[in-house]
Amino acid sequence: MGELDGKVAWVTGAGSGIGAATARALAREGATIVLSGRRPAALQEVASGLAGPTLVAPCDVTRPAEVERVVADVRARFGRLDILVANAGTNVARRDWAQLAPADAEAVIAGNLTQAFHCALAVLPIMRAQRDGLVVFTASIAGRLVGLLSGPAYTAAKHGLVAAGHALNIQEGVNGIRTSVILPGEVATPILDKRPIPVPAEERARMLQPEDVAELVRWLACLHPRVTLPEIWITPTWNRAHLAELERAGLPRPAAPPWE
Ligand SMILES: NC(=O)c1ccc[n+]([C@@H]2O[C@H](COP(=O)([O-])OP(=O)(O)OC[C@H]3O[C@@H](n4cnc5c(N)ncnc54)[C@H](OP(=O)(O)O)[C@@H]3O)[C@@H](O)[C@H]2O)c1
Repeated sequence: MGELDGKVAWVTGAGSGIGAATARALAREGATIVLSGRRPAALQEVASGLAGPTLVAPCDVTRPAEVERVVADVRARFGRLDILVANAGTNVARRDWAQLAPADAEAVIAGNLTQAFHCALAVLPIMRAQRDGLVVFTASIAGRLVGLLSGPAYTAAKHGLVAAGHALNIQEGVNGIRTSVILPGEVATPILDKRPIPVPAEERARMLQPEDVAELVRWLACLHPRVTLPEIWITPTWNRAHLAELERAGLPRPAAPPWE
């Protein structure tokens, strides 16, 4: 018996990283998992490791018609949709103002911000009818802090996503729909391969792991429906941004943490 028995959860970006770990965590709690992303093989591989019922539903979440097709399929098969984890996201290596191409700016904004509108707009009618639902947006610490690392398009898109989450709570909380925006710091996932400066394996090992964020989503999904956590920061303890601050202040670099 899991706490999410009978619930249907749709996870986007489910073929890798945080999305794949979230699909596993929600499935372990008994939810039926709908997995979306653009690569069917990656989704299939994650789905084949899940114990409970799944639906592999490849789609590009920047395309509203594809998103609506997935949600129509979910409605037809399961008759409900309880949890949306709009987690898909992307970035580009050439992300600084000096390098950013207009097409890349559009793709990063669509892939991190517009996509969440498409997903939320598609599921809201079902959740409103149920008078119950959980929407989770995976934003980023770059959704609150403006820095150089993530690039302006990603930073602007994630700021917009945080705002969209709060706006959803204002209008849809009264319909029983809870929205949580999660703002992770650095997580060791494939998105780091898009960084202009490669991230070494030993640095990745000390970051948040995808399972840490997935456990947060599982916990959120198991809370009583009267509870909403609108915005949650989750950061690595060995925080490279803080190390950079210490360095700038001329303070000594502490010893590496005692855990891996
Ligand atoms: N890792 C970090 O340090 C970090 C920190 C803060 C926030 N985040 C956010 O966490 C979320 C998950 O990323 P991750 O770190 O787990 O990296 P990831 O492994 O690269 O996951 C991103 C996922 O999004 C999917 N995706 C991208 N564009 C898509 C589209 N247009 N349509 C459908 N699916 C799409 C990708 O699958 P396909 O390529 O198959 O479509 C991929 O599975 C993202 O929103 C990211 O911005 C990550």
